[in-house]
Amino acid sequence: MDTVFEGSMGPQAMRRAGSQIEALKERLGRTPTACVITFGCQMNARDSEKLEGVLAEAGFAITDSEDADFLLYNTCTVRENADNRLFGRLGARGSELKHSPWKKLAVCGCMMQEQINVEKIKKSYPYVDLIFGTHNLYTFPALLDAVYAPENEGEMIISILPEADRIMEELPARRKYPFKSGVNIMFGCDNYCTYCIVPYVRGRERSRKKADILAEVRTLAADGVREVMLLGQNVNSYGIKVPAGEEADYGTFPELLAAVAETPGIGRVRFMTSHPKDLSDELIEVIRTHDNISRHLHLPLQSGSDEILRRMNRRYTKEQYLSLCDRIRSSVPDIALTTDIIVGFPGETSADVDETIDVVRRVRFQNAFTFIYSRRNGTPAASYPDQPEPERVKRDFDRLLAVVQQTAREECGKSRGLTGTVMVEGVNENDPSLLTGRLSDNLLVHFPGTPDLIGKFTDVELTEAKGFYFLGKQVGTPW
Ligand code: SAH
Ligand code: SF4
Ligand code: F3S
Repeated sequence: MDTVFEGSMGPQAMRRAGSQIEALKERLGRTPTACVITFGCQMNARDSEKLEGVLAEAGFAITDSEDADFLLYNTCTVRENADNRLFGRLGARGSELKHSPWKKLAVCGCMMQEQINVEKIKKSYPYVDLIFGTHNLYTFPALLDAVYAPENEGEMIISILPEADRIMEELPARRKYPFKSGVNIMFGCDNYCTYCIVPYVRGRERSRKKADILAEVRTLAADGVREVMLLGQNVNSYGIKVPAGEEADYGTFPELLAAVAETPGIGRVRFMTSHPKDLSDELIEVIRTHDNISRHLHLPLQSGSDEILRRMNRRYTKEQYLSLCDRIRSSVPDIALTTDIIVGFPGETSADVDETIDVVRRVRFQNAFTFIYSRRNGTPAASYPDQPEPERVKRDFDRLLAVVQQTAREECGKSRGLTGTVMVEGVNENDPSLLTGRLSDNLLVHFPGTPDLIGKFTDVELTEAKGFYFLGKQVGTPW
């Protein structure tokens, strides 16, 4: 059954979903469980919190176990291995569903915005009950109602919108952490880097209004949230493409960031991701003058070769990237820079990778996520004739990784002996006498302490550098 649901988040749809789940509860003689498995980026993680919010409100008990009565995969398609992971999981789920006919299986997210993946599910995994995309999350209550409606028994419900028709506000969210939360400030991406699928599956760039974002941050703060992460594929273009005459309702990203940082109760602000082409001096100044803005900037490089950057449509050169890093470091010396790098883009040679390695040596990233280029159907680079030779790519990738790891380890160790403020995130997984906290520059610190500190800030002396994390000792009074 292919349908585009008009039903919205409205309270009626939610009530109808609630009564379906009530009926299921009676049938099972227990509270039904629901599980959302998330692949991909912070944007998807935040969407999953909203999907879990709807499921909880409809009457499900949320669990981490894929054995749940309602299982939803929120998918990513940025690289091919993300797609393969989903199909593997769907296959494994088939026989389980035969034995438990009341269980429902749903798939949503970026992969579902590509028709070819929906077709593959229809053909190879016919037991999937529900498929929806990234643009109609707000119809999830109506979709849930439809999945459980007796007249749809045995049907596959598919609801995909080609493009977002509105900005979704006010879905209930079930936060993974009580003390920190992502906050969407914009959706979509218009940059069209030639390797990247995101503009095709997340749609056109749209910013939320500043007042809506600040209201959400205040509500979160009132609910005990101390750290927020502002989310967008390119936060630096926040507020640029907005309806004529409404510019004042948005402002610029630096203005928004300052306003969030100045919200009472918010002890730390992070943001993801900054495209180097439009990171302004104004932004650097806002970071410098607000010490609760994290001393961490994720600044994806992708390549250090001008020719490859041009073919990637990144719209900066190696020199521009290096001089941007210099400007950031001279204003905010204690800031940590991290990056993303792709090896094996069409036409790339080992000499191009030498240029990338040169940038890594000069900038000295605290961490770099290195990816092997993955050909994504429908992107411009997929049809470039000079697709890479895997053996060469593997060799260059390993060369780059060795330099990345060495410089990252040296950078991470630099703070040893200093004292830094951490947000305490939880009890250490391997040693329950230790707590785990995150420094402003995003590095982890493990230190002795008791669980009552979770969700608080405290100063910690960094006594031992362990490569990519620290051991430490708490000093002063937590707040
Ligand atoms: N909007 C963010 C990135 C989102 S995708 C930004 O521009 O920084 C996260 C990372 O995945 C990208 O930075 C890139 O390094 C990598 N990536 C995206 N498409 C890819 C592809 N086709 N193959 C390999 N890596 C890719
Ligand atoms: Fe993809 Fe480029 Fe947009 Fe990032 S900025 S999401 S890499 S198109
Ligand atoms: Fe993946 Fe979609 Fe994010 S493709 S990286 S989950 S925007």
